[in-house]
Amino acid sequence: MKTTVAMLLAVAAAGMMSGGQAMAQDQALIDRGKYLMDGPVACGNCHNTRAQDMSFVPGKEFAGGFHLFDPIGIDAYAANITPDPDTGIGTWTDEEIITAIREGKTPDGRIIFPPMPVPSYNGMSDDDVKAIVAYLRTVPAVHNEVPESKYTIPQQAMPPAKGAPAPSPSDKVAYGGYIVNALAHCFECHTPFTPEGMPDMTKLGAGGFEIVLGPDVTVMTANITPHPGTGIGSWSDDDIKKAITDAVRPDGTKLAPPMPYANFHNMTAEDLDAVVAYLRTVPPIDNKVERTEFQKKAFP
Ligand code: HEC
Ligand code: HEC
Repeated sequence: MKTTVAMLLAVAAAGMMSGGQAMAQDQALIDRGKYLMDGPVACGNCHNTRAQDMSFVPGKEFAGGFHLFDPIGIDAYAANITPDPDTGIGTWTDEEIITAIREGKTPDGRIIFPPMPVPSYNGMSDDDVKAIVAYLRTVPAVHNEVPESKYTIPQQAMPPAKGAPAPSPSDKVAYGGYIVNALAHCFECHTPFTPEGMPDMTKLGAGGFEIVLGPDVTVMTANITPHPGTGIGSWSDDDIKKAITDAVRPDGTKLAPPMPYANFHNMTAEDLDAVVAYLRTVPPIDNKVERTEFQKKAFP
């Protein structure tokens, strides 16, 4: 069979088309990753470099160094997860990054839960974790050496992730559960720890977990179960959404960090609806939480 110019052109055109499609797919993956990172997943809440006053340092997104301290035995520094080859994760393969996120193991054998909310991320879909990695490859590399983390409590790697697809967004409660549990790790902050340093599953979402942000700066997380008296059971859907995205309670009280309100503000209306629908279905727990003096003074 003789190859004609027309055939060659046809082959070239086909090649270009599939190349173009692949690029469109890559872009869709990166866009999804960006939405997740700017929105519900908010990895930057821990991984962005912060100034002394806790504000993010511009130009150091995902460059690490944020100090996470807990008297139960955590003295950790969030890692540099930019593509810098020396101080970041530029030389890691996609699989290595995915294993760190969903199973909490690094290629050099470190375990990173706690404090990184790996049990939540263990339920992340293959699509979403790949989207996060694709986006991380596109952020500017920042050279930033981060101090070594130290732990005196046992840490724990998670079993291999199943990577099951996320529930369909048309099933609001199930999809909301996926956002709350696998992406936004709401309960990892809103559940107190047992003395052994593991989340107390009998108090899921009941608040009262103390987060140490600095000397004399501690905040207490709120009860976000639908308990009518001590949780958010009597709040309207809009009340709950406003708290999540605007850091303000129905009575006008402001809400303290480190909840990533600014990220949650970027969530789509559908995703926020799903979160609220799911929160209404978790078991109500009677647990009255007292805000700390810092919270009352700095966020009245
Ligand atoms: C609650 C804070 C917190 C959140 C949220 C968090 N991380 Fe981490 N992460 C850490 C800390 C702290 C370390 C370093 C642990 C250590 O050095 O022992 C770490 C380590 C890592 C590592 C290993 C890098 C290395 O060089 O050791 C990767 C990769 C990573 N995080 C990615 C992510 C991604 C992606 C997200 C969002 C899906 C995320 N993290 C969310 C706190 C967090
Ligand atoms: C990094 C920790 C952290 C994460 C993650 C987090 N929160 Fe919070 N959240 C807090 C803290 C701390 C407060 C209390 C702030 C205050 O009272 O000043 C709070 C307060 C709230 C409140 C207000 C309740 C009340 O009674 O005042 C709601 C509602 C809430 N969070 C929902 C959520 C949801 C839903 C998610 C996940 C989409 C989430 N939070 C993720 C730390 C967190």
